[in-house]
Amino acid sequence: MEKAVEVVVVAVVTFLCFFFTFVGLVIGRSDFSVAEFNLHRRLNSEGLCSQLIQPAGYPCSEHITQTKDGYILGLQRVSSRSGDIEVNPGPPILLQHGLFQGGDAWFLNSEEQSLGFILADQGFDVWVGNVRGTRWSHGHISLSENDKEFWDWSWQELALNDLTEMINYIYSITNSKMYFVGHSQGTIMALAAFARTDIVDKVDAAALLCPISYLGHISAQFVLRAVGTHLDQMILAMGIHQLNFRSDIGVHLINSICDGHIDCNDLLTSLTGKNCCFNNSHVDFYLEYEPHPSSSKNLNHLFQMIRKGKFAMYDYGWWGNLKQYGVFQPPAFDLSSIPSSLPIWMGYGGNDALADVTDLEQTVNELESKPELLYLESYGHIDFVLSVEAREDVYNHMIDFFRSWGKSSSS
Ligand SMILES: *[C@@H]1O[C@H](CO)[C@@H](O)[C@H](O)[C@H]1NC(C)=O
Repeated sequence: MEKAVEVVVVAVVTFLCFFFTFVGLVIGRSDFSVAEFNLHRRLNSEGLCSQLIQPAGYPCSEHITQTKDGYILGLQRVSSRSGDIEVNPGPPILLQHGLFQGGDAWFLNSEEQSLGFILADQGFDVWVGNVRGTRWSHGHISLSENDKEFWDWSWQELALNDLTEMINYIYSITNSKMYFVGHSQGTIMALAAFARTDIVDKVDAAALLCPISYLGHISAQFVLRAVGTHLDQMILAMGIHQLNFRSDIGVHLINSICDGHIDCNDLLTSLTGKNCCFNNSHVDFYLEYEPHPSSSKNLNHLFQMIRKGKFAMYDYGWWGNLKQYGVFQPPAFDLSSIPSSLPIWMGYGGNDALADVTDLEQTVNELESKPELLYLESYGHIDFVLSVEAREDVYNHMIDFFRSWGKSSSS
């Protein structure tokens, strides 16, 4: 009996904390108390441009596009404080955020530290992607967020529907091939979409931060416990389809679990690996924006990958697969079908417990092209977006890589 209770407690803890890096971040503070956190949402009626980007002095416009399965996605276009995007457009570059994050993630530090602002200052035509379900996207043509069908997707749909739609949209406006930057889930979206669709023809070069395709060697302990206890299936069986950490229940549970029951100080480390370079005084600000919701099915798909060590489509079980795919096993994504002509750059960290180095080596080996690699021993999973040193450590190298591939080949 006691054992069973323990399993449930571990499961709930893991559910709340896995991927929820921003609460984990806060948990690292000594004066931890969820009640104090500024977890209220910013007003939904305002867009990302008017909340975060224009106030910093950058021209920014809101764009909307619709996926083939009816989701209405929001994109933002950001340009330098001095240049005029209409007169002298730089090469387009799409920034694709990770799991439980939104397009705001690229703008949460200062103008000198945040990738979105840095690229705009460098003359790039910056496009900010936002996947379905996040606050900067705009729902669905017929489904409401309260419908369970609204949350019936995983990163597979984010790759094959959302990313392809965003790239097509940007191409239709700029009439130019673009650069791509993804972080974490943003990289799995890119690798899956580039492997299976011709969208890669519209991409000049891709930079992948904390690349994920194989997940068989994840070392984050809490994640492994959650996988072992089949937490993902439990959540779905409970009828929970949306994962939203801002719900009252979520906040209360985190509060009670961390209040003396376990050492929350180590949680973030056990979840993402030790992040070297956060600005702890900036955490309240991050929490005004992050985290964003995702779907339980998405977590389920990621856990399937951890269990099986495969980079494959969602597994519906034998009969479900037969119905969906016409075969008993979900089809794998074949990394070797990404054209070798696509230049790829990867940044990865020695302290990243999610994008493990062994898994990354498998990804690199299966690609036809030979990616340029930047390894940072001290970096954890979130440092690649929020480190206060990322400009020097990461972004300058990435921009050199893009520049080395010349101007975007406008047609
Ligand atoms: C950290 O954040 C605080 C509060 O927003 C800010 O005043 C400070 O300049 C930041 N420090 C660094 C190193 O960026």
